[in-house]
Parts: sequence; C-alpha cells; structure tokens
Amino acid sequence: MRSVIFLLALAMFASCTGQAQKLASPDGSVKVNITQENGRLQYSVKFKGKTVVLPSALGFKFAQQPDLLGPFALEKTARRTVDNTWHPLWGFDSAIRNHFNELRLTFREKLEPRRRFDLVFRAYDNGIGFRYVFPRQAAMNKVAVVSEETQFRLPGGMAWWIPGSYESYEFLYRHTPLAKIDSANTPVTVELKTGPVISIHEAALYDYAGMTLTHVGSDSALFKSKLVPWPDGIKVKTQTPFKTPWRVIMIGAKAGDLLTSHLIQNLNEPVKIKDTSWIHPVKYVGIWWGMHIGKWTWYYGPKHGATTARTKKYIDFAAEHHIAGVLVEGWNKGWESWLKGENVQDYLTPYPDFDLDYLAAYAKKKGVFLIGHHESGGNVPMYEAQMEDAFALYQRLGVPAVKTGYAGKMHPKGMHHHGQWMVRHYQRVVEAAARHHIMIDAHEPIKDTGISRTWPNFLAREGARGMEYNAWSKGNPPEHTLILPFTRFLSGPMDYTPGIFNLKFDPTGKHRVYTTLAKQLAYYVTLYSPFQMAADLIENYQHRPAFKFIEDVPVNWDETRVPKAKIGDYLTIARRHGSDWYVGSTTDEKARHWKIALNFLRPRQTYKAIIFTDALNTDWVNNPTAIEIGTYRATADDSLCVMLSPSGGQAVELIAVPAKDVRDLKPIAQFNKAQKAKRLPFARVPVYPNK
Ligand code: NOJ
Ligand code: CA
Repeated sequence: MRSVIFLLALAMFASCTGQAQKLASPDGSVKVNITQENGRLQYSVKFKGKTVVLPSALGFKFAQQPDLLGPFALEKTARRTVDNTWHPLWGFDSAIRNHFNELRLTFREKLEPRRRFDLVFRAYDNGIGFRYVFPRQAAMNKVAVVSEETQFRLPGGMAWWIPGSYESYEFLYRHTPLAKIDSANTPVTVELKTGPVISIHEAALYDYAGMTLTHVGSDSALFKSKLVPWPDGIKVKTQTPFKTPWRVIMIGAKAGDLLTSHLIQNLNEPVKIKDTSWIHPVKYVGIWWGMHIGKWTWYYGPKHGATTARTKKYIDFAAEHHIAGVLVEGWNKGWESWLKGENVQDYLTPYPDFDLDYLAAYAKKKGVFLIGHHESGGNVPMYEAQMEDAFALYQRLGVPAVKTGYAGKMHPKGMHHHGQWMVRHYQRVVEAAARHHIMIDAHEPIKDTGISRTWPNFLAREGARGMEYNAWSKGNPPEHTLILPFTRFLSGPMDYTPGIFNLKFDPTGKHRVYTTLAKQLAYYVTLYSPFQMAADLIENYQHRPAFKFIEDVPVNWDETRVPKAKIGDYLTIARRHGSDWYVGSTTDEKARHWKIALNFLRPRQTYKAIIFTDALNTDWVNNPTAIEIGTYRATADDSLCVMLSPSGGQAVELIAVPAKDVRDLKPIAQFNKAQKAKRLPFARVPVYPNK
C-alpha cells in the first residue's frame, strides 16, 4: 500500500514538474533549464555556473480566449546546432559568426481548448534568445494579446535604465538597484550581484508591440514583459500563424564583452533586399545644428536655414573634405505647422528660397549627394499619404538617403509611438524606401531590434538623447556617452550627431556641450554609426587641424576590440579598417589615465600614429577646445598612454605604412612619457552643473 502511494505521489510530482529540458551553448558557458512548476512553464539561465535568471514564468493572456498559462503536455522536442559566418554590408565587424544550439519544444495545453505553440530557445556563448511560435490551428485563429506573461526574475544587481515609456526613449539614464525600477524601456543593462553583466532587449520586432519591462509585486528583482497597447488596451492584434520577437538576454563576464556582441543581429533573418549595391555607410554634414541653437529656422522667413546659397556652401565643404552627404532640414513647405504642434507637411514642394532640383544636380556634379528629410511630427497618416511620391521624388533627383522624424504627438490620438500600429508603420517606411533605393535614418524611431541585418537600408536611428539636447535642454552630462554604448548602442547604431567644435556656442552661457573637443573626436570611434554626422556649422570646422580626424575616420569597420570599459565611467574602443586602426577613449566628469597595449596591431608592421588628445590646459568648463595633436611611430610592441581631462577624450589614427615612412617620426614612447607628466594638473574635477 505504502509503495503504491509513493508511486502515485511520484507520478503526480512528475506531471507537475515534468522533466527539465536542458540546453547549453556551444562551449557550455550558457545553460538554460526549462521546467513546469505547478503547471506553469518556467525557464532559468546560468552563465559559467553563475545565476543569470532564476526560474521565471512564461505564458499569455488573451481577450475572448482563456489564458495560456498551462498546464502543458510536451509533444515534441527538436534540437539543432547552427554555425555559420555572415558578412554584413556595413557594421563594426566584417565577419560575424552565428553559432548557437537551439531547442524547440512543442507544447499543447492539457485542458481545452488544447492550443499548441512552440517555445524556441537559442543558446549562444554570449547570451540567449527565446520566442513563442504559434502555428495555424482551429482552436486559435484571431488573437488579441492582453498580456505577454514573460518574466525575468533576476538575482539582484545594479541596473542602467531609462523609464518605461510608450512614446519616447529620450531620457537620461539612471543607475540604481534593480529594486528601484518601476518600469523600463529596453535595453536594460544590469551588473548582476552574481557577477555577470547582462542586457535585456528584444530582436526581430515585426508586427508586434514593443516590449517594456515592469516590476512585479514585492519581489525586488522580478520583471515582466509589458507590451505597448493600442488605444483600446489590447497589446497585439494578430492571427495564427504568428511568432513573437525574440526575448534576448545578452551576457558577458564584464561590461566590455557586451560591446562586441552580435547576438541581436544574429537573431534576425539574412538580408531580404536583392540588389544592395546602392546601400553604403555615410558621413555627412548638414543644415541642422543652426536650427537647434536658434540661429536659423526650419520654416521660411528671414532666418531660414535651408536656402540655396547656404546649401551650396555645405555641398562645397563636403566635396572638399571627402564627406559624402549633405542633410538639409526645413527645405519643404509645412514647417510652420510643426511648431504649432499640428504638422501638416508637403514633402514635394520646396520653400521659394530652396532650389531642390538645382542643388541635387549641383551636389552630384561635385561628387556628393543631398540627404532628404521627412519630419512627420507623429502625423503618420499624413506622412503615409505622401510617402511613395516623396521617395520617388528623391529617387528621381539622386537623393539616396532620408532622415525621418516623429517629433510630436501621435496622430491618430491614442496610438503610441512604440505600439504595434507604429511598428507596422516604421516597417512600411523602410520597405517603401528600399523599393526606391533609399537609405533611412529614423529619429524618434521604433527601437532597433537588429532588423538592419534583413533591411540594411535602415542605416541608423536616434532613439536616445542625442547631441540636440545640448542645444536647448539642460544638456547631456559627461557620463551620458559613457552609458550609451552599454545600453542604447547594444540594440544597434545610433545617429548621435557628434562633432561639435564650438562647444560654448551660447553667448548667454545657458547652453553648451559638456565635453572637451578631443572627446567629440573620440565619439567617432566609441559611438558607432554607419550614418555619422559632423554636426557643427561648417564655419566652425574651417582651419581647424582637429577636423582631420573626422575627415579620416571610417564609418565601416572590419574588426572591433574593447581594451578598457566601465559603464558610466570610461571606455576605450579600437576598430580596424583594412590594415589601419582607430582608437577612441572617453571619460566621464573625472580625469583619468590608463595604458593600452597596442598588441592588436599587426606584428612587425610599422604604423604612423596621429594622436588627438586633451592638452595640459584643457578644461571642459573654461577651455574645452584646447587639443594636442602629434604624429609618432608605433608597432604592436608599444603601448599608448591615455591621459584624459574631466569629460575628455583621445582619438588616435594608426595608419599602416612602410618603415621608411616613419623613420623620422618620434617613437610613441616619447608621447607616453610626456603624457605622464600631465597627471597632476588633471586632478581638478569640475562638477556637471545640472546634476
Ligand atoms: C528631432 C530630431 O531628433 C532632430 O534631429 C530634428 O532636427 C528635429 N526633430 C526636427 O525634425
Ligand atoms: Ca530627437
């Protein structure tokens, strides 16, 4: 009798817990466990034996259908390993290995209506992705998602995050214990108290709502997916078959490891555009900063920025300095309405002082091109009504890139910037643009989820506080650009618009850029974008030797290394283009110094090292533009001294040249020695005034 009870108990236990399904990454660093506890599906994750995610529940709540929370019968398991290497059209590494083990679990509800779905987990050595896949089925046709019950139960730690918002990602980052987060937009990056550093985000967001994270109950580190709603509160309106975006957890032993990860891209599909010959990375200048600092206007009038004469000057400048593109904002009729918050634009008709046809042809003659601009202001129906014609116009004129914008309240009212309706819109834009051979840079975009692997004409996005905030707000504090690479940039390239040389542009002193000049240069290495602006007024670049770095720096890379990184504090990134390397270093409001071994250089190769660095008297408060520029010789056996003043930077070109070309140059060791002598004066730490 006793043994029968025991066997019964065992059978009940087995049906409650099921057998744990295990998945390990190719080298075994990442391990995932999938179980059922009391009928609820759960997953947990470890990295090198350390807990990353504690058992966390999975499931859905639907309208007009029972919740899909279990219990489930496991009907099938399928495993596979994929290991291949692909080559992006642009990016910070020219060869990307996609190596993972996959486990696909087919579940069916044990009770009516016995709905089916697959849970697909992929384990990489540097993270995981998982998604729900719903096949077509009689028990489930139309679907209205009320809530995706995907949990992330973390072991505690310190998080870098911005608030969960349905409308914007343009916030300053916060650094708090996980327990202090109410809701957050992703990526959320966490230094776990168990050791690993992780970032939670999503990949391949198509026809679904954007995911934010929300705190659950009193558990200090339990978060749940909270999807951005439609006006009626439903999150996703769809029908079977459908699949969710990948839920992604990037994992590193240290923060710098996240910066070289391609996990998000790898979880996307290969390129879907057949002829990609027209897609290429772009450096650009533009009629832009002048409007933000109030010197010019977008709308027609005495201070109008986008005039034919000024655009010509920008084209001449770009041609002279090997910069491919010239962005012009405010060229088309309608900007008066944007300022009034209505935004009804005419993307086909220039203002009377802007000769679009002439300028497009003039740019072409000079070997450069115009970059178009469509500010929807959030009035999406108005934009969609003109979009095809507007792209066709640019295509006819040879304008190969368009910056789009959604700065304003959504029309129709009640829609959110990051809901399913807008996800569909942003996708329609990028696909329409592709048909017209146009590259897109979206401001106020949908978050990047790596889809530019599939749609590589989606070059870059904003989606965080960019340089513009220094023009008219309290500004971006010195640490802001030391947080972005570990958060926003993990999702994909950002159009931050670096390169302001006139850092104290405001005679009233109310606004300024909170960095040194050398830090602005270093951004071209630390803040990767294939669509990279030299954002200042061109007159501020005239006769400035520091501009050489912006002229030289590539927008496409073969290889990336991160020799030094601490979130919010300091960063060095080294990137290779062909046989040359570029090294960028930046610091927050503290002066710092460190040493980088140049052992990533090719052995026995000689390099010409052109160094742009904070000078002895550089002081970001009073003397931010003081910069020291020198040329030295270097090899892989050398090291580089990085000596940064508060909110300072260093930008270095290492150009591979024959030994005879550098014979007359001083060795880099001499530079290092001189730098070390700077140490004392840098002890001052000016405080960012708005903190
Ligand atoms: C906000 C964008 O971020 C900025 O770059 C642009 O100039 C304005 N909107 C106007 O479109
Ligand atoms: Ca913006």
